[in-house]
Amino acid sequence: MTVDVPTATGDRPARYPEAALAARAARVLRDNDTGAVITAAPRLYPHMWSWDAAFISIGLARLDVQRAIAELETLFAAQWRNGMVPHIVFTDDDAYFPGPDRWGTEAAPDGPRNVRTSGICQPPVHAIAVQRVLEVARRSSPDDRRAAERFARKIWPALYAWHRWLVEYRTPGSSGLVAIVHGWESGMDNSPRWDVPYDAVHPGAALPPYVRKDVRVVGDASERPTDREYDRYLWLIEEMRRAGYDQRKIVENSSFLVGDVFITALFAISCDVLVELGEEFGQPAGELADLADWAEKARAAVAGSCHSVSGMARDRDLRTSRWLDTQTIAGFSPLLCGGAPDDVQLRLLSLLDSERWCGHEGLLAPVPPSVSPLRPGFNPRQYWRGPQWPVVAWVFFWAFEHRGWHERARKLRDAGIRLTEDGAFGEYYEPFTGKPLGSADQSWTAAVVLDWLCSD
Ligand code: SER
Repeated sequence: MTVDVPTATGDRPARYPEAALAARAARVLRDNDTGAVITAAPRLYPHMWSWDAAFISIGLARLDVQRAIAELETLFAAQWRNGMVPHIVFTDDDAYFPGPDRWGTEAAPDGPRNVRTSGICQPPVHAIAVQRVLEVARRSSPDDRRAAERFARKIWPALYAWHRWLVEYRTPGSSGLVAIVHGWESGMDNSPRWDVPYDAVHPGAALPPYVRKDVRVVGDASERPTDREYDRYLWLIEEMRRAGYDQRKIVENSSFLVGDVFITALFAISCDVLVELGEEFGQPAGELADLADWAEKARAAVAGSCHSVSGMARDRDLRTSRWLDTQTIAGFSPLLCGGAPDDVQLRLLSLLDSERWCGHEGLLAPVPPSVSPLRPGFNPRQYWRGPQWPVVAWVFFWAFEHRGWHERARKLRDAGIRLTEDGAFGEYYEPFTGKPLGSADQSWTAAVVLDWLCSD
């Protein structure tokens, strides 16, 4: 489809009308489709990423329900035998570093056969994706509805096993927070949330040499994590390889172990969704009870992390047993899953609306930035240190809808569309100019915009 686009000016090249924006988003998803998977982005991320695939399926459902189902099936075909859903499922493309050879997961006893993956996980948003695909399919055709119901019933045990893995292996200690062993597991790779724990990661002399490929793709290296950060990312992989990807050893010994409050909130709401799906499709009562119990504990852990003055939720360094007070978008996690006292949630809502966050008068669109623009160290162009991420806005949009906060959800949707209506589908955006940063044609950005445009 050809579209008329207003003329470019400055950093914001165009404003697409909604129908044209949807057509452009659909094209991005089609262009990133290798036939086997939809890659996270054409050049920077030429593989399947776990939480990207979940969001991609949500957008895809608006175009082709069966293709959306196939995407989730491909991801879960790579699920490890212990239940972990790996953060990357590799294609044959070798343009990304670290690729499968660097991860070396074929030696892992629990790894999948016939497919190469990384050895860590990413946020558990897959139940939400399955439910969204099902909802869209039910408003589509009888064939789509039947296919999505069959799929939801079939994938449910795999989703349960994934959630059980997070409880069995990744909920150490008494905080009840779901722990990560690598910043990449959070999805927010270089967020200042992780600065303190990363300071305690000391890459050893045995770190094999490497050459980054990401900075060649993204022309401006200042939009990406630093070399110092990469040394730590690679060192943690080295530690895991040496531990033979034995989760118990990794959780016991790795230099990085942090209770992640954002993942814990996502886990709580995904458990809720899995209970809803499980009840509908007659899944075992004992497993439904497990999920309800896990959701309650996760919610309590998020509530228990809230700072007594600001109300913001905090991560916890599990190696030093210290709260991490850095204020980022993750501090609003209680708004995703509830469970914190009403006065705390009200404080968080007014903070979110204030000039410290969405109410900052310089923002092009009131989408929450990854870090408050008023925080020292805020960097409007660097990855998770300041830019706005449409996909994170979608998570809050979905949670607000789910909690019945329809007006808030609508405003966030409108803001997300305003931010992305240039049609570039950037990976992330400079909050004041709206300049798209990182990769262009990022699949999950196109997918969530498509979902927004099709939401009533
Ligand atoms: N986001 C990471 C990267 O930039 C990997 O998960 O490579």
